[in-house]
Amino acid sequence: MTERPFHDRDGFIWFDGQLVPHRDANVHILTHALHYASSVFEGQRAYDGEIFKLDEHSQRLIESGRILGFEVPWTVEQINEACYQVLKANNLTSAYMRPVAWRGSEQMGVAAQKSKIHLAIAAWEWPSYFSPEAKLKGLRLCIARYRRPAPYTAPTKSKAAGLYMICTISKHEADAQGYNDALMFDWRGQVAEATGANIFFVKDGVIHTPTPDCFLDGITRRTVIGLAKQRGIEVIERPIWPEELEGFQQAFLTGTAAEVTPLSEIGPWNFEVGSLTQQIMKDYEDLVWRRG
Ligand SMILES: Cc1ncc(COP(=O)(O)O)c(C=O)c1O
Repeated sequence: MTERPFHDRDGFIWFDGQLVPHRDANVHILTHALHYASSVFEGQRAYDGEIFKLDEHSQRLIESGRILGFEVPWTVEQINEACYQVLKANNLTSAYMRPVAWRGSEQMGVAAQKSKIHLAIAAWEWPSYFSPEAKLKGLRLCIARYRRPAPYTAPTKSKAAGLYMICTISKHEADAQGYNDALMFDWRGQVAEATGANIFFVKDGVIHTPTPDCFLDGITRRTVIGLAKQRGIEVIERPIWPEELEGFQQAFLTGTAAEVTPLSEIGPWNFEVGSLTQQIMKDYEDLVWRRG
């Protein structure tokens, strides 16, 4: 059975302050965001009724808008409250949630200072971004053709829709070649991240991860660094060059959607799903599900 498309589902979406039936949460075709990518979004998860790190997600959404030059017309508290309304209205306790803010259709052309800023929040059940089998055996990544842009080329600190154009192309190319995802280098040629998740490596019990100076410093990334440090594991944030990949024994991705997912392969390099990675996966699960 094929999954229902995302526009054709039951339930409710919070849209500019009101809960509207899911199928009625629509925008006009001349929406600025659709033509010029003036849109920012969040991805967050609720675990058993509690939205993990909700304050940080709502703050990042507002900040992402500011970086693009617009003010989301809701406070962190109002966005948080709306998120919980969405869960309740849809009878969801564990869910993936997608707040999105964008410029409307008041003005057409590159300039859009007079456009109204909209905010919508949707939620749906989405247990695992990658298949459970891939999660168990480790994902296979190819190397993306595109590179993450420099901070002087694009607003890289914003979770802006426009930055995902090269991610979608890279993910499609990975899929077409039988890979689960793609590793993206940055404009300098250093290791950056996957198409929708941050990356970590393990060598001799030490964790290495690229400095997030031109890509998202993920909320999961920061959480995992904290969890590792709590266990007394050394975490080194630094520039990582592709030549070093051969020397790493384990690798994993982190992200709200991906959670902690081990890697078995990146291009010509192989990794084991080792005990340190498994420990971090478990620690993250225990934290988000509030176990133990
Ligand atoms: C490109 C990209 N990098 C990293 C992340 C991880 O960010 P977070 O852990 O805040 O979800 C995401 C997911 O939102 C992403 O889309």
